[in-house]
Amino acid sequence: MTDSAVLPGSDQVAVMLKGGRVTVLRDRWNEHANEWIAWVRAPGNPDSYGRFHRKHFMELVPEAGRLTLDIGCGEGRVARDLQADGHKVLGVDWSPAMCQAAATHPDKPMRVVVGDAAKLPLPDAAADCVVAFMSLQDIDDLAGALKEIARVLDDEKKLALAIVHPMYSTGKFSPTENSNVDFVVKRSYFQSRLCISEHSHGDLKITFFREHRPLATYVQALLSAGFYIEQLLEVTDDDEGSARHRVPMFLDILATRRPREKEVGWPNRPGIISRLPGCSILARSRGAGNLELLRRGRSYSRRVSPIAFSGVVLFGLLAAAAIAFFTAY
Ligand SMILES: C[S@@+](CC[C@H](N)C(=O)[O-])C[C@H]1O[C@@H](n2cnc3c(N)ncnc32)[C@H](O)[C@@H]1O
Repeated sequence: MTDSAVLPGSDQVAVMLKGGRVTVLRDRWNEHANEWIAWVRAPGNPDSYGRFHRKHFMELVPEAGRLTLDIGCGEGRVARDLQADGHKVLGVDWSPAMCQAAATHPDKPMRVVVGDAAKLPLPDAAADCVVAFMSLQDIDDLAGALKEIARVLDDEKKLALAIVHPMYSTGKFSPTENSNVDFVVKRSYFQSRLCISEHSHGDLKITFFREHRPLATYVQALLSAGFYIEQLLEVTDDDEGSARHRVPMFLDILATRRPREKEVGWPNRPGIISRLPGCSILARSRGAGNLELLRRGRSYSRRVSPIAFSGVVLFGLLAAAAIAFFTAY
């Protein structure tokens, strides 16, 4: 154990395990769901989504397709906006209270399912777009959630995500003698940690539960889950008079799911596998007269005449022998 904090209003201790995994965030969000719902639904609420963030994020979201998943959908504000843009949205959230609010919205009830982002209740490749707006920093198992998102996304389809910028979550503004505000970093940027912050606006109060993680943690988790990063935006308050305008508050990323590697099953299947010299194509005989080619993770079957088939095999053997001969001498 490297760190712990007593959660406000409860005697529970949030435990940060070695390696930076926090194990409590999802349940805290369910306990505080009513605060969140009141906060984001209050007319004129100070939340950044309506003020400036929505317009930047929506520019990243791809065209509507068969199914768009909203991971950590909360009470459904992003899902409702996407639906209005023509997306067929399914929201997923661990919190039953959030899901109920989304599903019973008075004007635009949403389709939602209660579930953990790290164990999505959906089949492989079911979605052709996933959004995760302001949820991944609140999810205990980031790597598990991204792996699950990659599993349910179809090949070459996209994930649009927005998180609190790791630079923003590592420090905070403090008043100074000149009535200016300094952005102060007191703890290591590089160490993941639980962050609990309380905010108020008029009668509204809200507690945020999230994990600060350095940028590399997000990038590595995306790459390991099988994503390319296509676009990255650093978003901040539009209000130039605000001290926040000087620092990035949010990080928005558009990532593409790499095509599934079809060659994974190959070694277990019969046939001679050879790499054709000088190119990235793998070829495998699938019985006389049937040649299967694998290029960039996609497999193509070709019926060829027995003479052509023998020619390809002979060519491969000769090329291999020639390469072996010239490298040996
Ligand atoms: C800050 S709220 C954002 C909600 C919504 N995306 C929005 O912007 O209005 C974070 C949400 O993530 C959800 N969440 C936290 N951990 C989760 C998990 N493991 N699986 C699914 N949802 C989770 C919370 O219940 C909460 O609704």
